[in-house]
Amino acid sequence: MCGIVGYVGPKSTLEVLLGGLKRLEYRGYDSAGVSVISGTGLETRKKAGKLDNLVNEITNHPLSEAHIGIGHTRWATHGAPTDGNAHPHLGGPTAKLSLIHNGIIENFSELKAELLAAGTKFASETDSEVAAHLVAAEFEKTGDLPTAFVNVVKRLHGAFTILVIHEDQPDVVLAARRNAPLVIGVGDGENFLGSDVAAFVEHTKRAISVGQDEIVILRANEIEIRTFEGAPVAPVEFEVSWDASAASKGGWSSFMAKEIADQPQAVADTLMGRLESDGSVRLSEIDGLSTEDIKNIDRIVMVACGTAAYACDVAKYAIEKFARIPVQVELSHEFRYRDPIITKNTLIVAVSQSGETMDTLMATRYAKEQGAKVLAICNTQGATLARESDAVIYTHAGPEVAVASTKALVAQITAGYLLALFLASERLAAGCDATDEATLRKLGQELLKMPARVTNVLEGLNEVRALGKEMANAKSVLFLGRNVGFPVAMEGALKLKELAYIHAEGFAAGELKHGPIALIEEGQPVIVIVPSPRDHDSLHPKVISNIQEIRARGAKVIAIAEAGDKEVANFAEHVIYVPQCENIFSSILTVIPLQVFALELSGAKGLDVDQPRNLAKSVTVE
Ligand code: AGP
Repeated sequence: MCGIVGYVGPKSTLEVLLGGLKRLEYRGYDSAGVSVISGTGLETRKKAGKLDNLVNEITNHPLSEAHIGIGHTRWATHGAPTDGNAHPHLGGPTAKLSLIHNGIIENFSELKAELLAAGTKFASETDSEVAAHLVAAEFEKTGDLPTAFVNVVKRLHGAFTILVIHEDQPDVVLAARRNAPLVIGVGDGENFLGSDVAAFVEHTKRAISVGQDEIVILRANEIEIRTFEGAPVAPVEFEVSWDASAASKGGWSSFMAKEIADQPQAVADTLMGRLESDGSVRLSEIDGLSTEDIKNIDRIVMVACGTAAYACDVAKYAIEKFARIPVQVELSHEFRYRDPIITKNTLIVAVSQSGETMDTLMATRYAKEQGAKVLAICNTQGATLARESDAVIYTHAGPEVAVASTKALVAQITAGYLLALFLASERLAAGCDATDEATLRKLGQELLKMPARVTNVLEGLNEVRALGKEMANAKSVLFLGRNVGFPVAMEGALKLKELAYIHAEGFAAGELKHGPIALIEEGQPVIVIVPSPRDHDSLHPKVISNIQEIRARGAKVIAIAEAGDKEVANFAEHVIYVPQCENIFSSILTVIPLQVFALELSGAKGLDVDQPRNLAKSVTVE
């Protein structure tokens, strides 16, 4: 969703703002703009389209040198992506105030009616401009900008991160957040604001998260945080572990290609410090849940959206198999509104790369109101979800810039495996039924080998790259899998949908005969995730039967199979092999060829793999 940058300090503000907006491009947007306060007063430039359009506008109409400013990339909610609807929005008849906003002001219509009745003229269709005029009018009344600002934000319903500057107060940027992301970058004689740390990480790694219903009064040498009610808030700094290069392409053709290649590191870093060489798991992050809490868990509900939900589907198999705790996976937006049964013994596990997905935030807030404890698995430090949960397992995939999630997914799956092994061990210690300790240790040691196996997969992708290019004109691709291969099939279909804009559908292979097999016709491409033939309870024979059924009807089969599985080669046009491993851990490996297939097919169609149409990296509105 929208990108937000604020700055006050000695640097050239325009460079800081445009650099920050560039690094926030991945959030998805369709217009951009900046406001600065220079010696000649408030100056604003804004344009529909990509950042280049804004840069051209500024080249043609230069801004004066300035040391304070705000910048915004907008993903249209109220009003089409036009120059007029782009942020910043100016407030008041003298247009001395500039405002940017991320989120939705749900009561903007009634507030707009109030302003129209007072004779206010509007230049846009946006809800954000309403806030700009309200703050300007309130400032005329109170003469004190922070007071005026907080008086207005307290009246706003919905979700917002708002930044304001005013020509008459040229040394301060004001910010407020409610149900939307905002972080402060702490500099030396300068300070920053951003919708996430990528906005300022090239300048400082010192950051402060801003909490719900708080305002920030930011000066070059002073940071003041207050609640909407005026109480001072003690800032809590954290160190950003990302660096600027991590949030840049580093020579790769796309962020997505880079992030696929980052996956061995993402898995290794997520395991680091949590999985000992003897296979034992330590999750100090969930010390907030006592052994008694863990013993009393009678159900786990995992809530997430999109790719993150498929990570939950994989975790379900592992948690139920090892810890013997019932797990249900719920799409956040469905769970929130179906009046679910939640008790104090329900553990909610919320999985989110951004930690700002409003659907998932609303689901976890609802669950907490019902008395449940919430454990987050999140990739973004200081994100709203992390701060609102009882405990957090951070994945350490680094900044994921491409809209299509890849390394965050394998890191989420890895965190799910760690959680499963940890819960099993804790349940054993509490006298509950679970996989025995010796087997858990062996599984832990197997998990330690996964980063190297991911590297091995990445080295054997030439055939699947070629297939992606060859199938650029495919109109439909089906994906089949069983057990932990089923969520992988679903994820493979999602990748193809969001990157190549073609029909793609994932099925449980066992479901074929209950309807989907009617889709099979001559030449229909079907990608099948084949389980290991080595597991005694493997579903390998059944999946081979499924392949035979669809080939008998003309399907062209691409199998993703385990190294050494010779049998599958008799039944598939192409076999992409991945290293042998415990079948339950295979999802981390089998998903990678599907990521690359979608990337290559999308590239062959000349599409923007990093910022697919209609999509945003983080959906911060319901
Ligand atoms: C995945 O490729 C998509 N970008 C999307 O499904 C994403 O996983 C979903 O919106 C959840 O985002 P989150 O992990 O930040 O909550």
